Amino acid sequence: MTRFALKGQICYSERLDKITVMENSYLLCEDGICCGVEENLPEGWENAEVKDYGNRLIIPGLVDLHMHAPQYGFCGMGMDMELLEWLDHQVFPEEARYKDLDYAEKGYSIFAENLKKGATTRACIFSSLHVPATELLMEKLEATGLKVMVGKVNMDRNSPDILREESPEASEAATRQWLADIAGRFKRVQPVLTPRFIPSCTDELMERLSRLQKETGLPVQSHLSENLGEIAWVKELCPWSECYGDAYDHFGMFGGEGCSTIMAHCVYSGEQEQELMKERGVWIAHCPTSNADLSSGIAPVRTFLDKGLKVGLGTDVSGGSSDSVFRVMASAIQMSKMYWRLADETKKPLTLEEAFYMATKGGGSFFGKVGSFEPGYELDAVVLDDSALKTPMQLTLRQRLERIVYLSDDRQIFAKFVAGEAV
Ligand code: GUN
Ligand code: FE
Repeated sequence: MTRFALKGQICYSERLDKITVMENSYLLCEDGICCGVEENLPEGWENAEVKDYGNRLIIPGLVDLHMHAPQYGFCGMGMDMELLEWLDHQVFPEEARYKDLDYAEKGYSIFAENLKKGATTRACIFSSLHVPATELLMEKLEATGLKVMVGKVNMDRNSPDILREESPEASEAATRQWLADIAGRFKRVQPVLTPRFIPSCTDELMERLSRLQKETGLPVQSHLSENLGEIAWVKELCPWSECYGDAYDHFGMFGGEGCSTIMAHCVYSGEQEQELMKERGVWIAHCPTSNADLSSGIAPVRTFLDKGLKVGLGTDVSGGSSDSVFRVMASAIQMSKMYWRLADETKKPLTLEEAFYMATKGGGSFFGKVGSFEPGYELDAVVLDDSALKTPMQLTLRQRLERIVYLSDDRQIFAKFVAGEAV
């Protein structure tokens, strides 16, 4: 049994509307699992190692529910297009380069190194359709110590020859090859089935992936209702579908028993789609920076939360122009204010508490008991040093956290733990 405690200024979420704040307290860890936060070391813990972080903040590791590793190279560039044009001109040509393992080596080294440096401890990541590069990405991420999910992308239609699988059979075969290659190879990195989005996947491919999902029980990640042109296209491609979500649900790839699913964006999810997501327990990856950068729109997050839908945050690197989940938290709040001001004044803006919850416990729930410091949670923690952010004011712990979120500066990261292990 390994026990240790992290001492410092501790903030975490138990519920949506509150940040639990514990000053000068001990975060207890036994065999990678959190045993709660105490003001004093409890009896029996006298011999446990105490890492004293003094006045630094300790928060749960941040969870990025949606990002694209092969798009990291153009992070912060090409933001003057909408989704479909951007995919054709920016995304597909760059992802096609990951056929070349030397290029993938360069790109994925940079990606993994930066993910390790930031405040993110868990992430759900799209790779490209290439099997060797996807395996390389998984190796690099395993070495970071982070716990992540990686998906080899499936796409067999409506993309250029350089980035399209030959047939549904070929796409399925490549996916099976990938899963066989990586079986038992990684401790921290898990596979996730990743049909890119409906326009990229023929019905037959969706049927094949669905069978594979039932066989393996693997989780699923994809995109949903991000852009108006995209939604109109899905309606053309699947005229039988009652809503975009129904186009996944039709193939059994939209949550439900044994099929944990993340859908990114949901900007235009209407009542019917929301009900379906609720019924199927689908996680929403809210990606406000991306939705602003690609002029997609503002997702009705207040409505999602009021309805009790499961919501986490995603950077959507690189539709989103930052890999910082802090930045996404600030953006979620800012966008919700514009939604309230310009679209619907009955939908009150998000609070820091709600953004913090979505970035930790909300998204973390996709990984199990992750994203909080309540007893029984896997211990993911980030130690933040804000001493370089000078102010003459006397700040509360909540104010210090708020400032770190809004300044979104990953340089404050002092230490990081994933499932009880220092990275
Ligand atoms: N929809 C299909 N592919 C993509 C992608 O790579 N990024 C985003 N934001 N949306 C998508
Ligand atoms: Fe995306």
